[in-house]
Amino acid sequence: AEAAKKKAALQKAKVLCTDLIKSKDCQAILVRLAWHDSGTFDKANAGKPWPEAGGAIGSIRTDHEINAGPNAGLKKALTQYLKPIKDKVPEVSWADLIQLASATAVEVAGGPKIPMRYGRLDGAPKQPAPAPFGLPDALPPFGGPLKNSNDPSEHLRYVFYKYGMDDKDIVALSGAHTIGRAFKDRSGTVQEGYLGGTKYTVKGCPFLGNSETAGGRSWTKNWLKFDNSYFTDMPDHDTHCIAFPTDTILMIDPGFKPHFDLFAKDQAAFFAAYAQSHKKLSEQGSKFEPTEGITL
Ligand code: HEM
Repeated sequence: AEAAKKKAALQKAKVLCTDLIKSKDCQAILVRLAWHDSGTFDKANAGKPWPEAGGAIGSIRTDHEINAGPNAGLKKALTQYLKPIKDKVPEVSWADLIQLASATAVEVAGGPKIPMRYGRLDGAPKQPAPAPFGLPDALPPFGGPLKNSNDPSEHLRYVFYKYGMDDKDIVALSGAHTIGRAFKDRSGTVQEGYLGGTKYTVKGCPFLGNSETAGGRSWTKNWLKFDNSYFTDMPDHDTHCIAFPTDTILMIDPGFKPHFDLFAKDQAAFFAAYAQSHKKLSEQGSKFEPTEGITL
């Protein structure tokens, strides 16, 4: 009975998320929010009592995480986009709502349906990791116990292998940058802020759709649409698009390149791989009640 109630609330939340995403075209920030909740997990800590290993537990809401550098700009997604939904469906945990909003965002933006599980409990580590919480850098010097702090491949493997992921997961998940933008005022990784932009992001241009925020720099031209254009377009080096060292290395490194080339050639192969990797990411460190989870 408890699980049935949760499922009904999750279904209601999914409708509310769908309406939100369609009306505001906020798919990208919702995907990034969920990834940064998940991305604090480290399997080296998996033996510690839950939720000390971090992960998709809703702890991105803590001041410690949301006010830290890697999460710059994400607070809006919690307070303005998801809080009004949470108030309507209090039975849905924050950890679930954050992951539900992301999976729904991918779907509404044209991407694959992700075989998600719900029922996550909310938690926050008593002894949280210091920023950047094991999350990746886009530009050198890259963090982590690296032999070469200028090597984007070594950095990506350090970040994603601690989730129990492999090279295919890294390339597939990087494909999430087919949507979204970077901002000077958030990560500071690009020159374009809210008031600037490229021909694909500047105030008044058609690529913004219903987005509330203009500016920034996107990886792709149609950055509201989830497709495989991250892979098909990167080799063209469009001067209005982003290509960080952590993106371009995917075209070169022998472990990444075969996946990159396949995803460029075959969107269905990208979608299938992305759906699996996204599900894996969404369950890092999560504790489910009921333990087998709830599917919608
Ligand atoms: C592989 C290593 C990764 C690096 C170095 C990286 C880096 C970044 C940076 C610097 C930004 C710009 C943030 C800003 O200025 O607002 C960004 C945005 C974004 N990232 Fe990543 N990211 C990585 C992986 C991922 C993964 C795994 C996902 C999801 C599966 C993801 C999804 C996104 C999305 C959707 C945005 C756009 C957010 C928006 O438009 O508001 N990224 N990323």
